Amino acid sequence: MSVVTLDSSLPFAPYRELGNEVLRERIAEAKRKLGSSLLILGHHYQQDEVIAHADLTGDSYQLSKLAADSQDCRYIVFCGVHFMAETADILANRPEKLESRGGERVTVVLPDMAAGCSMADMAAIRQVESAWEQLGEVIDTEDLTPVTYINSAASLKAFCGRHGGIVCTSSNAKAVLEWSFRQRRRVFFFPDQHLGRNTSLKMGITNDLMPVWDPHEDELGGNTEEAIQGSRVILWKGHCSVHQMFQAVHVHQFREKIPGIKILVHPECPQEVNDIADISGSTSKIIETVRSAPSGTKWAIGTELHLVNRLKKEHPEQEIHFLSPLVCMCATMYRIDLAHLCWSLENILNGSIVNRIVVKEDIARWSLVALERMLTVR
Ligand code: 13P
Ligand code: SF4
Repeated sequence: MSVVTLDSSLPFAPYRELGNEVLRERIAEAKRKLGSSLLILGHHYQQDEVIAHADLTGDSYQLSKLAADSQDCRYIVFCGVHFMAETADILANRPEKLESRGGERVTVVLPDMAAGCSMADMAAIRQVESAWEQLGEVIDTEDLTPVTYINSAASLKAFCGRHGGIVCTSSNAKAVLEWSFRQRRRVFFFPDQHLGRNTSLKMGITNDLMPVWDPHEDELGGNTEEAIQGSRVILWKGHCSVHQMFQAVHVHQFREKIPGIKILVHPECPQEVNDIADISGSTSKIIETVRSAPSGTKWAIGTELHLVNRLKKEHPEQEIHFLSPLVCMCATMYRIDLAHLCWSLENILNGSIVNRIVVKEDIARWSLVALERMLTVR
């Protein structure tokens, strides 16, 4: 198989003209032809029509595990966002896996390269390195564990690998922070301030011990030396633009309008929402919570719109509401559609891979150190 040969790859434009029925048939045909050499992974925020073609679905942690444990496949087509595909490439092609396949790599494809994550983009490696250097002038960084949320570029995961740090997801953040505090006194958490804060608060760490590092401020991320020296957790000033939209007032309005309603949110929501929600957890925890609730339960759910709409359809026996009056959807997850999925699969068949995700060797090696720490912590 060759990698991106512009002359032989099928152009994308004609796929836009195809109707969904045709695309569905062509995707099914490509899947049939590729058989067990293909694994399509789908994140819970994907559109229903895309999820319908996924072999396996999950939250970020589960999808990482699925990529890490994959056996027969030679192609992983990742219906999710860029950092997820990078993580799959690192884990599916780690040295022991490569050896078991006689050196053959698993090719990871992201159907649309524009499927990024705005939160991941809020922390660039040069900003994190500069912050680390500045922190080293006021505290001992040997006593500071860097923790990156999995929603980050591989270079940040590699940074954590090199500096005794670790990766976390929304489903294991508490266990990862507990691990981090067993290693060292303080934590530097990036890029999502909300997941870092919400998790730390549950562990009894108060806001006065959690200064926020603003990468756009020249001096100590906008903090005093005393604030950094007195910190337990230094939070990066990053957020998810989707979950940032949920507000405490939405929770109050639902509780007033529908007595007994339960508020179920993702921990990327701001503290004011997380604090007053009934339950907070990863996308899989949200799904599991709804699945296992008795019929007639009333929910207002604060996470990405496509997942909430799917839960509504799958659970007519329960009353499910979207927590915000606004449309909070992840525009980048939404980039993956049937046309891009079909295009990427037919290019695999055509022998001209498009949108292949390959993490550079040195970055992959150090990212793996931080990812493996995460996989053993749980
Ligand atoms: P989960 O790991 O909970 O699926 O979250 C991923 C994500 O991007 C949430 O915005
Ligand atoms: Fe990133 Fe937010 Fe989209 Fe999740 S929902 S992929 S954090 S932008």
